[in-house]
Amino acid sequence: MLSVVIRDYEVRDFKDIVAIDAEAFGDRNPVYDAYIYVTFGSDLIVADLGGAVVGYIALVDYGKEAKIISFAVKREFRGKGIGSKLLKAAIERCKQRGKERILLEVRVSNVVAQRLYKKNGFKIIDVIPNYYNDGEDAYLMALDLKGQ
Ligand SMILES: CC(C)(COP(=O)(O)OP(=O)(O)OC[C@H]1O[C@@H](n2cnc3c(N)ncnc32)[C@H](O)[C@@H]1OP(=O)(O)O)[C@@H](O)C(=O)NCCC(=O)NCCS
Repeated sequence: MLSVVIRDYEVRDFKDIVAIDAEAFGDRNPVYDAYIYVTFGSDLIVADLGGAVVGYIALVDYGKEAKIISFAVKREFRGKGIGSKLLKAAIERCKQRGKERILLEVRVSNVVAQRLYKKNGFKIIDVIPNYYNDGEDAYLMALDLKGQ
């Protein structure tokens, strides 16, 4: 069993976030991405394994709604429940903040992530054609928190 601690981002985590982003989303600029999460994010929640960050989930505040703008776990630590813990922590945080809905976009081919989202109550509400740089479509998924 990995003893992962789920906590808020600290400045010393920046380089780990950049490395995880680079590994997970190779077609983007990871330093710029991490800068966006830290600067424009409302919450950046990380999975800490012995002082090193092995996963993160980034939220942006849209008033009554929140959006998950990025979510990744270091490849060698995937499939061990860390992503589930991060997603549940993000959902809890949104409930605490009184959000009515959480939104996210996911590649139509990313069935692993879609399964995790569906397991946690998210539903596909739309398809966004040509959303990614390579032309792939995105599913817009939503979790309704009203009344929860
Ligand atoms: C999506 C992601 C964050 C999930 O993180 P994770 O730590 O692997 O999540 P979990 O361990 O909680 O597993 C989630 C599910 O994926 C399966 N899974 C994911 N990666 C796996 C792997 N390498 N080996 C085996 N199973 C894996 C798990 O079995 C689990 O499914 P189940 O609950 O039906 O058994 C991670 O796969 C990732 O970083 N992917 C690349 C970036 C990405 O796609 N981000 C989402 C963008 S919208």
